[in-house]
Amino acid sequence: MKITLSVIKADVGSIGGHIAPSRRLVETVAQHVGRNGPPLVIDTQISHTGDDIAILMTHRQGAGDPGIHKLAWDAFLAGTAVAKEQGLYGAGQDLLRDAFSGNVKGMGPAVAELEFEERPNEPFLFFAADKTDPGAFNLPLYLAFADPMNTPGLILSPNISKGFRFVIMDVNHTEGDRVIELVAPEQSYDIATLLRDSERYVVESIWSRATGDQAVAVATSRLHNIAGKYTGKDDPVMLVRVQMNFPATGEILAPYSIGHFVAGGMRGSHQMPLMPVPLNTGISYFDGPPIVSCAALAEHQGKLTEPLDCFAHPFWNTVRDRVAGKAIEMRRQGFFGAAMLPMSELEYTGIVEELGSLDKRFVVRPERSGRA
Ligand code: F6R
Ligand code: MG
Ligand code: MG
Repeated sequence: MKITLSVIKADVGSIGGHIAPSRRLVETVAQHVGRNGPPLVIDTQISHTGDDIAILMTHRQGAGDPGIHKLAWDAFLAGTAVAKEQGLYGAGQDLLRDAFSGNVKGMGPAVAELEFEERPNEPFLFFAADKTDPGAFNLPLYLAFADPMNTPGLILSPNISKGFRFVIMDVNHTEGDRVIELVAPEQSYDIATLLRDSERYVVESIWSRATGDQAVAVATSRLHNIAGKYTGKDDPVMLVRVQMNFPATGEILAPYSIGHFVAGGMRGSHQMPLMPVPLNTGISYFDGPPIVSCAALAEHQGKLTEPLDCFAHPFWNTVRDRVAGKAIEMRRQGFFGAAMLPMSELEYTGIVEELGSLDKRFVVRPERSGRA
């Protein structure tokens, strides 16, 4: 019987600005899921990355199950009540609807779900990023699943070398899910052509061409498109099955040593490098830098092991130092040029209105007919 991994995350309030949830808030969410989860939910783990709380659940209900989604929604509502009581900032921020309507997708929280026939051993990774958006995973996923310079398994392992199918979403299309399917390696240039524009084209899922199994699920919806107003960047979560017919854990983790520039940071409006951090890390410099955490787990018949903290390893200290250097260097040019996102991606509209009023004050200088 199939197992489903569901991770549902939301920002429902934090201490001292958009930094991290309070201990009581995290405990309230965990208690709600602990009390009301079974028997539907087999196992669960609660964590936070920056100001976002993630509920990881195992069950047999399949993806998009109303019972599972309602459980998470209600847990975040219970958390919101505590956030209000404690005077936390942005209490209930990501709960954009008044009433639950069957599925949290489109209601604010981010969702990533993987359904599969369990292998004899089932290692997987759970990524959570804050102060950035789902396009942050484009580059690491491209390198891990389509580039043998990063993933030697693509040339060394017969099943992995059959390649992967990428499902990519156009997140600017708000009327419905607009997706395209492309296969690597044959169409890897097409995949690259789309993924370079990480604000518009976002990897939603990746599938093994050898077995048809799903390897990756990314939370792809865009909060600010759904809400029609600024509600924060769509801090994404992602699940990745690893080993055997999928890339190895180390091949999935390796690209995070780049500290690539992503959209996010202060007011969701800048280009900042992505810093790999330990689990349950908060936010600091310039409402950032954008951070990503990764828990490695094993699962058997829905029972989870304890999470191992992938980016807590000493190797990542030097990466973090380099990312901090890149962040400071970029910040030196303030709002000029590449440091700030293009107009279409800014999440605060004040500047757009100001530009409109300045535009009216421009004059076209009359051309002179000849030299005096
Ligand atoms: C970015 C983010 C923060 C806020 C900033 C201002 O995604 O959440 O950088 O944009 O702290 O927050 P408000 O407008 O809530 O005062
Ligand atoms: Mg927030
Ligand atoms: Mg957040």
